Amino acid sequence: MKTIQPVKAIYPGSFDPMTNGHLDILERSIPFFSEVILLVASSSRKQAFLSLDERVSLAREVVRGHASSLLRDRVKVEGWSGLIMDYAKQQGASAVIRGLRAASDFEYELMMASMNKELNPQVETWFMMTAQHLFFVSSSMAKELVYYQGDVSRYVPPQVADFLKKRKKA
Ligand code: COA
Repeated sequence: MKTIQPVKAIYPGSFDPMTNGHLDILERSIPFFSEVILLVASSSRKQAFLSLDERVSLAREVVRGHASSLLRDRVKVEGWSGLIMDYAKQQGASAVIRGLRAASDFEYELMMASMNKELNPQVETWFMMTAQHLFFVSSSMAKELVYYQGDVSRYVPPQVADFLKKRKKA
């Protein structure tokens, strides 16, 4: 019988900025992996609002301030501007976690998971459904709310809400 090995996973995304939707996926995935690297990456499809360093330090603050010690212990936040599969190889990670919201996410995610499989067949992509109450949350929506002085605090972690409010005032 094969013994179950600890699995190191990567949770990649732009996290521009991190939202409660991202946090929900992170919290629910933690029990299944020995380590999760929240990988703040660049997307060629998007013009970033926050710099890579800002996104990384915000995500680190969110993880550091999280109530669960399991999450704080198992999650590491890193930045990366190359291919996710190159990072996976370098780190010996064998899983990629992605959250799915609506059917509209599916096609892009299918393409990305398939390309990643071509690049590194050792790595599996694990999809998780976004919690129902967060289906409509996105980083763009959070930025727009702040821009028009809406209350963003229900949709992003407190550290992100504070940062966005300060950014808007500056
Ligand atoms: N709940 C609510 N919203 C969620 C969510 C969840 N669980 N998960 C993601 N979202 C939202 C995000 O807020 C974001 O919103 P936005 O479009 O308004 O910014 C959107 O869904 C997607 O964001 P995210 O999950 O951060 O992923 P992404 O699509 O921006 O990231 C990369 C894509 C970085 C993972 C991808 O471009 C990549 O892998 N880049 C590196 C190069 C590479 O290896 N490419 C693949 C092979 S060619």
